[in-house]
Amino acid sequence: MRHFLDLSDAGGDGVAAMLADALQRKATRQGWPKGRPDADAPLAGHVLAMIFEKNSTRTRVSFDMAIRQLGGTSIVMDAGSMQLGRGESIADTARVLSGYVDAIMIRTDDHAKVVEMAEYASVPVINGLTDASHPCQIMADLLTIIEKGKALPGLKLAWLGDGNNVLASIMEAGGLMGFDVVAACPQGFQPSDEDIARGRGRARVVGSAKEAVENADLVVTDTWISMGQAHAETKLAAMMPFQVTEALMAEAKPDAAFLHCLPAHRGEEVVDAVIDGPQSLIWPEAENRLHAQKSVLRWCFGQIG
Ligand code: CP
Ligand code: NVA
Repeated sequence: MRHFLDLSDAGGDGVAAMLADALQRKATRQGWPKGRPDADAPLAGHVLAMIFEKNSTRTRVSFDMAIRQLGGTSIVMDAGSMQLGRGESIADTARVLSGYVDAIMIRTDDHAKVVEMAEYASVPVINGLTDASHPCQIMADLLTIIEKGKALPGLKLAWLGDGNNVLASIMEAGGLMGFDVVAACPQGFQPSDEDIARGRGRARVVGSAKEAVENADLVVTDTWISMGQAHAETKLAAMMPFQVTEALMAEAKPDAAFLHCLPAHRGEEVVDAVIDGPQSLIWPEAENRLHAQKSVLRWCFGQIG
């Protein structure tokens, strides 16, 4: 049985196989009504349960549509309305849900919770974001990059701002797929050594935004204050030199693409002129959550890779 808690669970070959499947499946259903299942309905009869301990728009709707397009159905639960929200353990919840559904996706704070869910579930468990990582997002990012005609090996990805969960998964992707990740983060908000090590020698941290974006193929950022973090003026002030501006984009390659997992805080981590500008790929990136996650689901059921 396969769990998708981080990209390394699938490895480079698994990730590549999922991306190829996603590209092909997306092309096959161009122009169809979004609720129509794919012709082969490969997960017909399967039910995906989703548990949210944090807010979500994209993960919630894209996974719901993903399982529908694969021929299955979903049950979406906010943890606060489950017994989980009043103290029932993750382990017991995992064992109970495994008797009802075919796969579980969970968005939570502590990464140890998804690990525990996977340990006790007898169905595949998918990480829909933890404080440590966001692998489903990065699958969509990689799909978006490839779709724009950029082969992953040898690319330079510049990350600006907070050394957070999204960056950790990007560094892991760099290590698996062979691209360089140069992160410019202020002191005190840099990724851990463990996260940098996920890049297998391809990830590094610099102190200057300009140095990170120089000659970059991709410029990526995210909110400066992630879910569950206190809104601190001192952090916002420290982040300001790492804001993605038009001047900063001009230091990257002329055809560099801008990515952001969303939700965005315009005027903080990125200015309108960049996020709404010609280099921004944020809307296909958001749509690709759906296409990438269909392949993640298929991978979990052993249909790919
Ligand atoms: N990017 C992302 O995971 O968005 P949501 O928080 O809306 O799911
Ligand atoms: N780093 C952000 C990502 C949101 C999709 C957070 O954890 O809130």
